[in-house]
Amino acid sequence: MEEDILTTEELETDEFEKNIRPESLKEYVGQKELKENLDVFIKAAKMRSEALDHVLLYGPPGLGKTTLAHIIANELGTNIKTASGPSIEKSGDLAAVLSTLEPGDVLFIDEIHRMPRYIEEILYPAMEDFELDVIIGSEGNSRNIKIDLPPFTLVGATTRAGDISSPLRDRFGIVSKLNYYTEEELKQIINRTSRVLDFKIEDEAAEELAKRSRKTPRIANRLFKRVRDFALVSGDAIITKEMTAKSLNKLNVDAEGLDAIDIEYLEALILKFNGGPVGVETIATSIGEETSTIEDVVEPYLLQEGFVKRTPRGRIATEKAYQHLKIDHNKSLF
Ligand SMILES: Nc1ncnc2c1ncn2[C@@H]1O[C@H](COP(=O)(O)OP(=O)(O)OP(=O)(O)O)[C@@H](O)[C@H]1O
Ligand SMILES: [Mg+2]
Repeated sequence: MEEDILTTEELETDEFEKNIRPESLKEYVGQKELKENLDVFIKAAKMRSEALDHVLLYGPPGLGKTTLAHIIANELGTNIKTASGPSIEKSGDLAAVLSTLEPGDVLFIDEIHRMPRYIEEILYPAMEDFELDVIIGSEGNSRNIKIDLPPFTLVGATTRAGDISSPLRDRFGIVSKLNYYTEEELKQIINRTSRVLDFKIEDEAAEELAKRSRKTPRIANRLFKRVRDFALVSGDAIITKEMTAKSLNKLNVDAEGLDAIDIEYLEALILKFNGGPVGVETIATSIGEETSTIEDVVEPYLLQEGFVKRTPRGRIATEKAYQHLKIDHNKSLF
């Protein structure tokens, strides 16, 4: 199978991920404003000996939401319990996680937009009053009971803020968006990863890697790991710029950091649909990808970098996209 660097899946047990994941706000690169604010809110909560207000983190995959959730717990000096939206199917599942919480703990719910709506409703009183209303017993013989919960902090993460109902969103006291990283920040992350994994990288190579990482730490780290493999097998003790360029070409990551799916998307948009406007579902079907992958993973970066524009009638390719693919804009119209 083709190298899939865009996967949103994450193995918590992956030693690589665990080792290179920063554990304090200080080590967490970038997201300056968010970090400064969180630092104040965490300190204030600790001074009051209260649980931190609930936090909603949103932004494209791989920008550090899960990492930040763990850091929040570390900084608070509390435990973190994790769950993911789609895995909470029954009210009992939610009750089971909530009942393990100790005062001040962080409950991290990843992909919170995929939580069933009726589970969401059980979560409201838990978030607001630290109370859990559960129905026990079987049909016809059931009753409601209220369980007191310790004060806790819900940290929710989502790649789709728009899919979160407003009553749920309103119950988060802190709502933060994660932004794409600058090349300088990515370089810092790459250098840190190089130190943690104990494999050297030349300054110019780190810059090249940063430039081609889709402004995303997860991708920077994944690509570092791959380039390191190429260097190791070639008998190099340090990652050079040449090795970086060569390896990234082999991995189908182009000079702007676009990968195979990005290119397929742009080619479809321009060659099959004349540059648009065309609906996202149509593009997704034509290249055999899920619409959600296109919307959550592929498009945010292409939009941010100005390769694509979103219009009421659909997506359109920009001049930059034509230039990048070296397609004459006027020619393709006829
Ligand atoms: N600010 C940062 N500084 C250093 N490393 C980072 C930072 N943000 C993310 N990383 C690294 O990038 C990897 C991906 O981050 P993380 O898993 O937190 O992303 P995510 O936003 O939760 O993604 P997803 O939406 O796919 O769940 C982590 O393993 C971490 O090492
Ligand atoms: Mg995550």
